Amino acid sequence: MAQTPPMGWNSWNFFECDSVNEQVIMDMADAMVSTGMNELGYEYIVIDDCWQIARDKYGVIIVDSAKFPSGIKHLADYIHAKGLKFGIYSDAGTHTCGGRPGSKSFEEIDAQTYANWGVDYLKYDWCNTEGQDPVESYTLMRDALYNAGRPIVFSLCEWGHAKPWLWADTVGHLWRTTLDITDRWDGNRWGNQLGWTEILEHQNGLEKYAGPGHWNDPDMLEVGNPGLSINEAKAHFTMWCMLAAPLICGNDLKNMSPEIAAILMQKDMIAINQDRLGQQGFKIYDEGNFEIWQKPLAKGQIAICLLNLENREKEFLLDWKKISIKDFEGLYSVQPIWEKDGMIDTEFVLDLTIPARDVIVYILSKE
Ligand code: GLA
Repeated sequence: MAQTPPMGWNSWNFFECDSVNEQVIMDMADAMVSTGMNELGYEYIVIDDCWQIARDKYGVIIVDSAKFPSGIKHLADYIHAKGLKFGIYSDAGTHTCGGRPGSKSFEEIDAQTYANWGVDYLKYDWCNTEGQDPVESYTLMRDALYNAGRPIVFSLCEWGHAKPWLWADTVGHLWRTTLDITDRWDGNRWGNQLGWTEILEHQNGLEKYAGPGHWNDPDMLEVGNPGLSINEAKAHFTMWCMLAAPLICGNDLKNMSPEIAAILMQKDMIAINQDRLGQQGFKIYDEGNFEIWQKPLAKGQIAICLLNLENREKEFLLDWKKISIKDFEGLYSVQPIWEKDGMIDTEFVLDLTIPARDVIVYILSKE
């Protein structure tokens, strides 16, 4: 499973706890199909926190019927009927981060419930886990899911504290590497929600731990949420593609602008993200506020991304032989991705202007 980074949508970043409900989830499934996102690979519709309310006397989880009056099975069926896959959320501790019942001591019964509902993806959080060992707790749920007998992508949300990249490849398919993302370029909100460029800084060096079936997860996308401008959202999406990050949208798909849809549906960037080599990108050049990243692709192709972190234009003379591209041998043709200004090759030195807080991306192919 998850041989390429999972793609889909999750309710948290935009709808959080208060606004998520059955109608929202159905609307997002509808939008994923009507926009054509499903044809580009987006497939999971994941309900994050706040769908659960209590447990019955047998320990079976009870759905919050004020938000989900028709129940979860009904939603799963609705999503499956559209050709999409269905995901849900729980927590390894006593309670979720939103204070709803967690799965601690109920792992088997919860996994069985999810399998009965037709769950295809589980995000498993780490709030209220005092005294628990992450390897043990996540392994417990992994085994419960396995025993339940339904293939379920297992997404670990431990925020990187216990360095899951060192142990989680045999436990789950993806693991969060940092605290939560928020819709900011940089800095943080309330100390614990990070702008996307802060998260980016922590990804370089983790590339050796990711690959088909096991991915570093720098958290869900903020593309389309109000705190990022169009170019900022484009740069964010581009870098998540370069990182082979899971592409889990976190915006209101039903009401997104054409500019935002065009970013989320940029075919060539998605192809870079989903490349079957499954190699996470890494930084090859760094001037502080100007960086160049490389992502090796199948068939000897190479994606190169120039990232201008500064809030003003950046001039750069791009000499392909001088930016330390790994495994760069001979001549390559150069295809720009976001701009359609024709093909060149790596003999040419490019005199570039990278707009403020923006990216330029090329795919290099052997001549
Ligand atoms: C944590 C997770 C978030 C989200 C919320 C839900 O903060 O890291 O992604 O799931 O909990 O309460």
